[in-house]
Amino acid sequence: SIPVDNVQALAASIYDQGSTSVPPRYLRPEAKTTDPIASDGEKIEPPVIDFARLIDCRTSQEESAKLHNAFAGLGFVQLINHGVPDEVIEKLKADIIDFFNLPLEEKKAVAQLPNDLQGYGQAFVVSEDQKLDWGDMLFLMTRPLHIRNMRFWPTRPPTFRDTLSSYSVELKRVAATLFELIAKCLGIAPEELLDIFEDLPQGARFNYYPPSPKADEVLGLSPHSDATPGLTLLLQVNDVPGLQIKHQGKWFLVDPLPGAFLVNVGDMLEILSNGEYKSIEHRAIVNTRRERLSVAAFHFPKEDAVIGPLPGLVKEGKAKYKSENYRALMKAFYGSKLDGKSLVERLK
Ligand code: SIN
Ligand code: FE2
Repeated sequence: SIPVDNVQALAASIYDQGSTSVPPRYLRPEAKTTDPIASDGEKIEPPVIDFARLIDCRTSQEESAKLHNAFAGLGFVQLINHGVPDEVIEKLKADIIDFFNLPLEEKKAVAQLPNDLQGYGQAFVVSEDQKLDWGDMLFLMTRPLHIRNMRFWPTRPPTFRDTLSSYSVELKRVAATLFELIAKCLGIAPEELLDIFEDLPQGARFNYYPPSPKADEVLGLSPHSDATPGLTLLLQVNDVPGLQIKHQGKWFLVDPLPGAFLVNVGDMLEILSNGEYKSIEHRAIVNTRRERLSVAAFHFPKEDAVIGPLPGLVKEGKAKYKSENYRALMKAFYGSKLDGKSLVERLK
């Protein structure tokens, strides 16, 4: 991947100079965004799923059916009563805000390195003429423990590592329960799905989007579906809106309930479910005044999983997708051998 400018520093220097222009590589007027603070764009409220009701035997069936229907439609839900302690979430928010507020030189201690996806930098850029996103990020693999590369785990703020470890355990618990319930709703033995996500491989991406004087001509994060995970749990760190979901061909802003996780289906789960669940395109937009932060926790298949419609879901031999080794899919995705296609399209 090609190294590009730090966007936080770029934005700071533009505002410092009282300038209102941004380098052309960030401009994509065709995206037709509108500043989500300045204007009331169209909003959508993903169905609210109560985790406590999901795990209570008296209400589980009813609540699971709601989850199932939402994953089959909008592809996103808001998960409340998930049992992740407030202090774990508040600590994570505080630590990631502190990290991004460090001077650039200090953040560079955990900068991305060639041929590794982890560390602090920008979403990967593969060509010199590719348009750039108005944001920086820190990506870390968090589970299983033996794949952690502490080289990329910040030591400042000093509590960061412990905080992320605690958060990671909590989200693993939530994700494992969701996979189990999903399997039941899909009518397959839970082991069929749990085996694919054995040990719950997990990664965390911390997103930092500075304000932009050209908020309605840049994108914080380009439109994408979550390619490599099965499920993503997204946390909004501050109360600045910016996530948009594509629904019936149009972009809608999501303003999540405070304390809720946004949970969405990734390409891997769409394929495994033989298309019953939908991995939906989304993007992040920015505003002219305030920075925005979010944390996405991805739950990935195990490396040697075979990704294709689960046997129990292929009725009368009608598989909607081909099957391929997860490792090969990752290689295609990160090697940009997809010619703009998604992983779902690759297996169609
Ligand atoms: C993501 O797609 O992972 C992040 C979107 C956001 O920042 O809300
Ligand atoms: Fe995403």
